[in-house]
Amino acid sequence: MQREPVRIVLASRTSELTPAIARWITSGRGSLAFILGDEECRHRLLADGINWDRVLVAYRGADAIGYAAFKHHRRGPFSPGSGPFVREFGRLGGTLRYGLFMVSEWREWCYGFYLYGLRVRKVARRQGVASALLQAVFEQARGSGHEKVELEVQAKNLAARAFYAHHGFVSIRTMSWLSRLVPIPTVINQRRTLSPLSRVPPK
Ligand SMILES: CC(C)(COP(=O)(O)OP(=O)(O)OC[C@H]1O[C@@H](n2cnc3c(N)ncnc32)[C@H](O)[C@@H]1OP(=O)(O)O)[C@@H](O)C(=O)NCCC(=O)NCCS
Repeated sequence: MQREPVRIVLASRTSELTPAIARWITSGRGSLAFILGDEECRHRLLADGINWDRVLVAYRGADAIGYAAFKHHRRGPFSPGSGPFVREFGRLGGTLRYGLFMVSEWREWCYGFYLYGLRVRKVARRQGVASALLQAVFEQARGSGHEKVELEVQAKNLAARAFYAHHGFVSIRTMSWLSRLVPIPTVINQRRTLSPLSRVPPK
């Protein structure tokens, strides 16, 4: 049977957003669980501070089947206030965790255009959904005046590394120093230079 085509929309321009999508997007950043807690906790901390103009959602029919989040011009998908952190962890613990989260956000400003997160529902994988999202990310990057897209991928995430290699990303550096400082997995910084012809091959 023919599948419905995938539609990619900038989340700030759609009326189709549901609380489930916010929950899904805040479930990312698992590597920062030592700061942000478990999925439920991350949702409580981040859900009210989502910048929907930094999120692309892939729909098939009415179903959200994937998203990409990105950062540029000092704005990423999350701008939480310190309030939820203090409510969750108390004044001292909350302020400390909020500060650590902000440091991790600031660290990423060394990248001009940063692919912050990319995820496709398991049932929809290997159908070109992430490729379509990546194409839309490239358009966002070009539209905001950037010629390259950067990201960090966990060294042990072989599926994602294969996906990014398929799309011409090259590794710049392995950031094992970071995992010596804080309890996060080793990540690899990767980069893809865009050209007007750098289209994702149709599937
Ligand atoms: C990585 C991920 C986003 C790929 O999404 P997807 O929609 O399945 O990717 P696509 O169908 O567009 O894949 C395009 C190509 O990438 C490569 N690829 C994708 N997934 C792969 C895998 N699991 N193993 C090997 N190669 C893979 C293949 O070359 C594939 O082409 P093919 O299917 O014709 O062989 C998805 O597996 C996912 O959501 N993983 C969990 C979240 C995650 O790890 N995100 C990345 C964080 S940095």
